[in-house]
Amino acid sequence: MPTHRITDSVYSVGALDPALRVFDISMPTPYGTSYNSYLIAGQKLAIVDTVRADFWEDFKYNVECLCDLAAIDYIIINHTEPDHSGSLAKLLDIAPNAQIVCTAAAQKNLRQIMNRDFACITVKDGDTLDLGNLTLEFIVAPMLHWPDTMMTYLQEEKALFSCDMFGAHFCQCEMHDDMTLYYDEYVLQFCEYYEIIMSPFAPFVRSGLEKLEKRVIGTIMPSHGPAITEHTEERLADYAEFARDSRDDEAKTAAVFYCSAHGCTRTLAEAIADGLRRKNVDVFLLDIEGADITALSMVVEQCDAFIMGAPTINSDAPAPVWNLLGALSVPKCRGKIGAVFGSYGWSGEASGYIRSRLEQLKFKVTQESLAICFMPSDEDIEAAHEFAAQIAESI
Ligand code: FEO
Repeated sequence: MPTHRITDSVYSVGALDPALRVFDISMPTPYGTSYNSYLIAGQKLAIVDTVRADFWEDFKYNVECLCDLAAIDYIIINHTEPDHSGSLAKLLDIAPNAQIVCTAAAQKNLRQIMNRDFACITVKDGDTLDLGNLTLEFIVAPMLHWPDTMMTYLQEEKALFSCDMFGAHFCQCEMHDDMTLYYDEYVLQFCEYYEIIMSPFAPFVRSGLEKLEKRVIGTIMPSHGPAITEHTEERLADYAEFARDSRDDEAKTAAVFYCSAHGCTRTLAEAIADGLRRKNVDVFLLDIEGADITALSMVVEQCDAFIMGAPTINSDAPAPVWNLLGALSVPKCRGKIGAVFGSYGWSGEASGYIRSRLEQLKFKVTQESLAICFMPSDEDIEAAHEFAAQIAESI
C-alpha cells in the first residue's frame, strides 16, 4: 500500500494483501484485505500496530519513506493477533529505542509471541501518553475481540485507532472510505466483518461503544480496511444497530429452519410455525437448502429460539443442516431455546445428532424432539402445534 496521509499527523503505513481469499481459515475475503499500521508524527514518533510477518518488507519500506526507523519512540499494540503483531520483533531489531505500549494482557501475549525481552509501558483504561504536541488516550476494551484489546484515541485530531472495531476485509490503493467506485462493496464487507469477527462479542461491542460516546470521533482508523474519514457517523450508527441487544425487543422470535426431501419434514415445519404464530411468536420459516449460511446464522443469532428440522438420510442429517450447525458458535447461541423435529422412514438418527450439536452450542434444549414416521397425520399435526406451544411458553 502506498503511504498516505489520513489526518494532519497520521499516515497509513500498512500493507495490502489483495490476493487473500480466506481469512483465519474461515472468512471469505473476495476483495482481499489490508494489515493496517499507522505512523503518528508528533514531536515524538509512534507507530500503531505492525503487519503480518510475511508483509514485513512492504511495511518497512513504507515507514522508511516517512521517517528513520531508529527514531521511533513508541509502538502502540492495540491487540496482539499475529496479523498485526507479526512484524513487531523485526521492527524492534531496527528501532531499538522504541517502547511498546499495550495492555498488561497484551504484554503477556507478546512475551509468548516474540520469546524475547522488550521495553514496555503497560496502560490502563484512560491512561494517556504525551507525544510532545499530541496526546494519546487509551481505551481498554477486553474481548473486543481479544482479551488484550484496547483502542487508542488521538485527542487533538479526534481520531480513533479502533483495533478490529469498524474494520473490513477490503483492499484498494488508497484506503479511505471516500471511494466512489466501490463504496457499496466496501460497506457490504464492513457488515460481513462485523457479523463474522465481532458479533460473537456483541455485549463487549456495546460496552466499547459506550466508552466511545464520551469522545468526539472524526476519523476512525481500524486494523483492516479503509480509514473512515467521510462516513464516520454512519459507521458508528451501523455498529450501534448491529450490536443492539435483541432481548430488549418485546416480540418473541423463532427461526424454524428445515430441509425436506419429500415434503414430510416441510409439513411438520409449517405446522410448528403455525403453532408458534398462534402464540404470538414472530416466525422465520425457511427451507435452508441452497441458502446463504452467513445470513442464516444472523437470523439464528437474532432470534429467541432456533428450531431445526431434518429428515434422516443414510442414517444422518443432510449436509445443509451440518453446514449451518458448523457455522454457529457458542457465544452467539448460549442460552437461546433450541429444539429439533423431523420426519424419518425407518431409522431416524438425525434428530438425536442435531440435538447433541445444539447442546454443544449451549442452546437450552429442554423440549423432547418431535420425530414423525413418514407423512405427518392429523394427530401428528396436533402434536406439532403442542410442540410449538411448549416452545413459545419457554421463550
Ligand atoms: Fe486482524 Fe483481531 O485482527
